[in-house]
Amino acid sequence: MAEEAHGEKSHNGKGGDKGLVPKTEAGLWILYQGCWLRPRAVESVKLVQEQFQARFDDVLLVTYPKCGTTWLKALAFTVANRLLHPVAGDRHPLLVRHPQDLVPFLEMPYRQLQQHPVAELEEMASPRLLSTHLPVTLLPPSVLHLGCRVVYLCRNPKDVLVSLWHFVNKVNHQNYTIDKAFELFCKGESAYGPIWEHGLGFWNKAAVSSSSESESDSSRVLFLKYDEMMAQPVEHVKMLAEFLRVPFSDEEVSRGVVEDVVRLCSFDKLKSVPVNSSGVCDRIGGVPMENSSYFRAGKVGDWANHLTQEMANKLDAIVEEKLTGSGLAF
Ligand code: A3P
Repeated sequence: MAEEAHGEKSHNGKGGDKGLVPKTEAGLWILYQGCWLRPRAVESVKLVQEQFQARFDDVLLVTYPKCGTTWLKALAFTVANRLLHPVAGDRHPLLVRHPQDLVPFLEMPYRQLQQHPVAELEEMASPRLLSTHLPVTLLPPSVLHLGCRVVYLCRNPKDVLVSLWHFVNKVNHQNYTIDKAFELFCKGESAYGPIWEHGLGFWNKAAVSSSSESESDSSRVLFLKYDEMMAQPVEHVKMLAEFLRVPFSDEEVSRGVVEDVVRLCSFDKLKSVPVNSSGVCDRIGGVPMENSSYFRAGKVGDWANHLTQEMANKLDAIVEEKLTGSGLAF
C-alpha cells in the first residue's frame, strides 16, 4: 500500500455496490464495489480482474495495508524456499532484497493498458506466492473459481490506523493530523477500506471453508492475527509451513530451523539489513518511497502512544458493532 491511504473522497460515498462513484478526477477517492480506492487503483484492479489467470496451486498472501504484509511476505518466502535458500545461509535473499520485492502484488505497481498488465506474474514458476490488498469481493474471478489458498493476516485496527497515519505522512511528506486520520478511518474511508469489511470477507470465507464437508475445501484460508503471531511466532511459522504444504521435518525442528526463520524475519533483523534501512524504491508507480518506511515500531499496542482513550473506545465500539455476530475479533 502506498501513498494515498486517506484523502478527499468523491461525492456519493455510499455507492450502490455495483460500482462506482462516477466522478473520477485524479486525486479523488472512489467507492468501487464497496472498497475505497484511488481512480488509478481502480483501473489496475479492473485490468487484473480481466487478465490475471490464477493457477490451482497459487497461494495468495492477503492483508489490509499496515497489517504486517512485509513480515508475512518475508516469512512465507523463507518457509516456502528454504530448500533452495537455506535459512541460516549468509546468501539468503532477505539479506539483499526487500521483503516487499520477494512476493509480487497482483495490483501493484498500478497496471496500465499500454503494457501487458500481468506478464511478469505469468512468467513465474509454479507454485506461485503472490500478494494483494484486495478484499475478497475484488479478487480476480479465477482465484475464486480455482479455490486458491489464501493466507490472511489481520491486525488490531487501532494499531493499523496509527501505522497508516505515520506511513502516509512519511511517504507523502505530509503533516496530516491524527484527528483527521481517525475521523476518516472510523468512517471506513481509507485505501482498501473499510477495514472491517476487508477482514469479514476473508473471515467468512474461512468459516465457509472449515464448515465444508469437502476436505479439499477445509484448508483454503489460513486466518492469522498480527498480535498472536508476535506472541507465538514459532507456532505460527509451523502453521504457515503446514498450510504452504512444506511442513518442517522433525530433523529441521530439532536443528532449530523454525527459530532461525523467526529470527531472520524478525522486525529487528529485517530493519537492520542495509537494503531495508536505506535507499528509495517506487513499488506503487509514481510514488517513490524509502525502503525503511515499512519498518517503524513493529509493536503491539503502539496505538496507546498516539490515540486518546476516548478515540480508542470510539473505534473499538465501531469495529465491534460492525463485526457483531461474525465471531471475528481483530
Ligand atoms: P508499525 O507502523 O506499527 O511499526 P505492512 O507491511 O502491511 O505495510 O505493515 C507495516 C507494519 O508492520 C509496520 O507497523 C511495521 O513496522 C510492521 N513490521 C514490518 N516488518 C515487521 C516484522 N518483521 N515483524 C513485525 N512487524 C513488522
